Amino acid sequence: MTRQSRAFTEIRLRELTVPNRVWLSPMCQYSADAHGAPTNWHLAHYGARAVGGAGLVMVECTAVAPDMRTTTGDLGLWSKRQIDGHRRLAAAIACLGSLPAIQLGAAGRKSSHGVPWDNAGTRHAIGPDQGGWQPLAPSPLPFAGLAVPSAMSVADGDRVLGDLERAARNADHAGYVALELHGANGYLLHQFLSPLTNHRTDAWGGDLEGRMRFPLAMIAALRAGWPQHKPLLVRLPAEDLIEGGLTTREAARCAARLGEAGVDMIDAGSGALRPDARRIDQPLHNARYGPLFRDAGTLAAASGGIRAAEQLDEAVPALVDAAFVGRAMLRDPYWALRARDAEPRESWPKQYHRAF
Ligand SMILES: Cc1cc2nc3c(=O)[nH]c(=O)nc-3n(C[C@H](O)[C@H](O)[C@H](O)COP(=O)(O)O)c2cc1C
Repeated sequence: MTRQSRAFTEIRLRELTVPNRVWLSPMCQYSADAHGAPTNWHLAHYGARAVGGAGLVMVECTAVAPDMRTTTGDLGLWSKRQIDGHRRLAAAIACLGSLPAIQLGAAGRKSSHGVPWDNAGTRHAIGPDQGGWQPLAPSPLPFAGLAVPSAMSVADGDRVLGDLERAARNADHAGYVALELHGANGYLLHQFLSPLTNHRTDAWGGDLEGRMRFPLAMIAALRAGWPQHKPLLVRLPAEDLIEGGLTTREAARCAARLGEAGVDMIDAGSGALRPDARRIDQPLHNARYGPLFRDAGTLAAASGGIRAAEQLDEAVPALVDAAFVGRAMLRDPYWALRARDAEPRESWPKQYHRAF
């Protein structure tokens, strides 16, 4: 008998019906091939989570351009080879029982560093001799020990908007059914939005209205490349958790504008703009921002500290419309099936029934 939980009921986003509300959170694997294309690792990793009952599999942050990657191991979506690899990956996720979605990323200043398992897990800058590049950001303020980014010119901004539109179109051609922009964790959208990282005095800076201008252009670019009938999500910071940073009030105003611009669901994040941001790792810590974004007029989702089935029941639908599960699904690809079942046999793949 399956657990009676609202987390395992379907949800509709535009014309997409997702069979449940327990989704794989985007998590970088830093395992792309030398050309930024998916590898057998991605097929096995995402395939296992699709078999494991996640209603939607959000493929990791995938860069829209070479200088918008975080590391040389990031996936990309600007070349034919990458599109072909993503087509195989999206098809595998779909035929293994889940819905293939992808998170697009523009890392801005949080860019050109080593993969986490080099240098004892610390984020260390890589220079041109190690395949590194010059990062771009709203203002020339470095993230911790990374390179000082160049302040984006209008031409740089136009290029990035073109990259976003192309990546969205490529994601559609590859067969993804939902798209998320990574706009939290100190990535480019977040860098524009926060007064701590955006010191511009032109039309892309200043008050909240000015700081939202480029983020709104990013959404317009994505919507231009992404079909109207397919849903668009944004991972958005609900606050910076640093004195003088983005507030929940500002985040809610931004969410309302993103909703008007064609965003269907806000995936709530928080912090991570700078190393001194407060770190919270309590159960449901981002889900608590769900009502803030719902009040702003969009659907809400969140990741963060969901480890037990009971926490799903607490979060969905009271706080959020869907839950992203990260580390718990890294530890156990079958986490969603286990969370769903009191007596597991029925909803496990038929190939595994003799195990029960
Ligand atoms: C290995 C790893 C890679 C991650 N990569 C991404 C990413 O590509 N995009 C993103 O938005 N968040 C990324 N995150 C954050 C997760 O998606 C998630 O928000 C976070 O781990 C909190 O959820 P959890 O407590 O369920 O793990 C990553 C986390 C981990 C552990």
